[in-house]
Amino acid sequence: MNFELSEEHLMIQQAARDFANTECLPGVIERDEKMIFPKEQILKLGELGFLGMMVSSKYGGAGMDTISYVIAMEEISKVDASVAVCMSVNNSLVCWGLEVFGTEEQKQKYLFPLAQGRKNNELYIGAFLLSEPEAGSDATSQHTTAEDMGDYYLVNGTKNWITNGSSASVYLVMAQTDRLKGPRGINALIIEKNWAGVTVGTKENKMGIRGSDTHSIQFTDVKVPKENRIGKDGFGFKFAMQVLNGGRIGIAAQALGIASGAFERSLNYATQRKSFGKEIINHQAIQFKLADMATRIQAARLLIYKAAVDKENNKDYTISSAMAKVYASETAMWVTTEAVQIHGGYGYVKEYHVERMMRDAKITQIYEGTSEVQRIVIGRSLSK
Ligand code: CAA
Repeated sequence: MNFELSEEHLMIQQAARDFANTECLPGVIERDEKMIFPKEQILKLGELGFLGMMVSSKYGGAGMDTISYVIAMEEISKVDASVAVCMSVNNSLVCWGLEVFGTEEQKQKYLFPLAQGRKNNELYIGAFLLSEPEAGSDATSQHTTAEDMGDYYLVNGTKNWITNGSSASVYLVMAQTDRLKGPRGINALIIEKNWAGVTVGTKENKMGIRGSDTHSIQFTDVKVPKENRIGKDGFGFKFAMQVLNGGRIGIAAQALGIASGAFERSLNYATQRKSFGKEIINHQAIQFKLADMATRIQAARLLIYKAAVDKENNKDYTISSAMAKVYASETAMWVTTEAVQIHGGYGYVKEYHVERMMRDAKITQIYEGTSEVQRIVIGRSLSK
C-alpha cells in the first residue's frame, strides 16, 4: 500500500492548482452573484485536457487515470465549484459513458469533440438527463417516453435540474420505451440540443454553484435515430446507474475540494486575525475546529482515492463510490459551516469566499444521488 502520489500525479495537481488560481479565482465572486457561466474557463480546461481526462487519446482524450481526475477536481473545486461541476459531468457522466458503452460511430461523432470540449472552435460539452419533475431519487419512475417508431424513437417529456443545460451541445437522455418492463424498458439516447423539438427552459436561480447553468429541458416529438441509442434496447437504466457510480467519485472530489478550500482559507485567517491579545489560532476553541476539519478532510480524501483505485483496478466500485460521496459531501457541509464560524462576521460576507463555499457545499449532498440514496446503496450491500 502506497499513500504517496506519483511524480505525474503531483504535476497534474500543480497544473490544476495553477489553473484554478490564475483562471478561476479572478471573477469567481461576480460569476456567483450574477450567475455567469464560466465559458472561458471551460474552454481553457478543454485545452488542458481536463474535459476528457480519462478518455483514451484514440478518442481525443488525455488518457489519464481516475486518481488524476480526482486530484484535478479537488484543486479546481477549492476555488470554483461551478467550473468543477461542469468538468465533472462532462468527464464522468458523458465521456466515460460514451467511451465504455457507445458504438464506434458514436465515439467518432460525439466522444471525440466532447473529450476536447470543442468543435469548429466553439465550446462543445455534454449533459446527463435523468432527473424529472417527479423522478429524482426514484429514478426508475421515468415519465419521459421514447416511443419505438421502427427506425427511430419519438421522444416526449421534461427533464429537470440539468447541469450544463444550455451550454451543452449533446444530451444523454434516459426515457421509457416499454413501461411494462419497468427499469428494463428504459433507453439511453444521444440527442443534440439543436434538433427540432428540443426546448431549453429558464435558468434555475440556485442557492449555490450559481455559475453553472442548470435548466429544465423539454422534448416535444423529437425524432432520435436508432443509431443514437446507447447499448441494447432496455439498457438505459443500467447505463445511468453505472455511469453514476463513477460520477459519484467526481462529486465526492468536488465536495473534498470545497472542504479543503474552506479549510485553507480558515487556517490562513486564523493565523492573522487577533482577538483577546493573540492570533485566534492560539485559542483552543479554534484549534479544535481546525483539527477536526483537517481530520475529516483527510478521511474523505482517502475514501475517494480508494474508490478511484477500485475503479482503476476494475473492481466493483458501487459501494466505495457511495461511501466516498456521502462522507465527502457531509464533510464539505460541516467544514464550510465551521469555516464561516471561524471567520465570524467576515465569514458572512462575500469577499472572504467561505459563505459561497457553504452554499456550494449543499448541492454535493443532493445531486448524483442524495445522501439518503448513497445510504440505500451502501445499506443494501450490507444485507446481501
Ligand atoms: N450500479 C449498477 N447497477 C445498479 C445500481 C448501481 N449503483 N443501482 C441499481 N442498479 C441496477 C439493479 O441491479 C437493478 O438491476 P436488475 O434489473 O438487473 O436487477 C436495476 O438497476 C434496478 O435497480 P433497483 O431495483 O435497485 O432500483 P430502485 O428503484 O430500487 O432504485 C436507487 C435504486 C439506488 C435508489 C436508484 O434509483 C438511484 O440511484 N437513484 C438516484 C438517482 C440519481 O443519482 N440521480 C442523479 C441525477 S443525475 C445528476 O445529478 C447529474 C447532474 O446534473 C450533476
